[in-house]
Amino acid sequence: MNFKDLVRVDEGLISRSIYTDDQIYQLELERVFAKCWLYLGHDSQLKNDGDYFTTYMGEDSILVTRVDGDRIKAFLNSCRHRGMKLCRSDAGNQKIFMCPYHAWSYSNDGRLAGVPGYENAYQGKLDKTKWGLVEVPRVELFHGMIFATWDQNAEPLLEYLGGMAVYLDRVVNRMEGGVEVISGVQKWRIPANWKLIADNAAGDSYHVPVTHGSVVDIGLRARPGRQGHQVSAGKGHGFGSEAGGIPQGNAVRSPYANFIEKLRSTLSDDQPANKFIPLGHGNIFPNLGFLDTARIRMFRVSHPRGPWEVENHTYCLMDKALPDDMKMATRRDFILSFGPSGMFEQEDGEIMSEIMAGLRGHVSKRYEFNFEMGLGDEKPVKETSGGDLPGYVGRYWSEINQRAFYRHWRDLMTANA
Ligand code: FES
Ligand SMILES: [Fe+2]
Repeated sequence: MNFKDLVRVDEGLISRSIYTDDQIYQLELERVFAKCWLYLGHDSQLKNDGDYFTTYMGEDSILVTRVDGDRIKAFLNSCRHRGMKLCRSDAGNQKIFMCPYHAWSYSNDGRLAGVPGYENAYQGKLDKTKWGLVEVPRVELFHGMIFATWDQNAEPLLEYLGGMAVYLDRVVNRMEGGVEVISGVQKWRIPANWKLIADNAAGDSYHVPVTHGSVVDIGLRARPGRQGHQVSAGKGHGFGSEAGGIPQGNAVRSPYANFIEKLRSTLSDDQPANKFIPLGHGNIFPNLGFLDTARIRMFRVSHPRGPWEVENHTYCLMDKALPDDMKMATRRDFILSFGPSGMFEQEDGEIMSEIMAGLRGHVSKRYEFNFEMGLGDEKPVKETSGGDLPGYVGRYWSEINQRAFYRHWRDLMTANA
């Protein structure tokens, strides 16, 4: 498999097979999803001792627990006896998890606590200390965001985030107390390759006036301008926004929008990254997309389900310090815009699934996608925005972030061979 030929980002050309090929997908699970720091969820989903939730790392089901009050642990959600999915709930509170097949039970710190017939069936010989849950070796937090990696030798999370950390900080750490996830996680599947969604989140402002023309027409979003920026923050991470933030339409005026306007006018200049609030759209490599607008803030993790399908999980985020009525109004706005019932999300989903349907054709696969927009245009962010800000900036309509995403993907697929 020659990834250098498949992903020729310096020419803006990418083979369609990277979205459809089974062999590439299996390598991707190994070289991207079993290597990178992946987003598991937010610590506000684990408020109390014994709280847990389930999620995925690649295709592996993962159980995340809060143990002894302050330790967050992550385990493969798979019984060690015969591999049954141990916990089948999305979230809850319990300290013992019992397997539905033969009732081996595990404590929330991963120990094998109980085995039916331990004396009769196993004659007391089974070494329970060896058959606890498989633990994800590295778990680290960034302002409440829980990340984990299977790679014992991975760089620390902060290094992995690299230049993105300073910008992401302005999304989740701009008010005293930070942010929380409100009202659960929305989960749904669409027939799309996860990279199409990540590439759209990272840098595709070009589609907005067309794909989302209808939500502009009804006043949910203001007519998009062409001034703005795309910032490639390094290591495949990127974000972008219209100048002054993504403007909302007049159809729904949320109290949160007023709050953001006020916040922007009071921001101090001593943190140069403040200029980018709200950050707009973005993607943390590989599969954590986000939106930070005058209307809502959300994370969307696109868990791969084979090359042809993805399971999206969306999280609505709010500053903890905001009043409850503003949180609830923002939650309604979020449900109207993103997630399975969201008007923007449905438009994007339809495009993604039609692209994938087209990629099933034999002839279609021979041709490349075009990522030439803004090739060679980028400048260091510090030249345009001052301070010591990391990364490179391109025009609002530019594919700088998509090229950076695929370049990083290609490097991992090659280096981890
Ligand atoms: S598979 Fe879990 S107890 Fe047998
Ligand atoms: Fe979109």
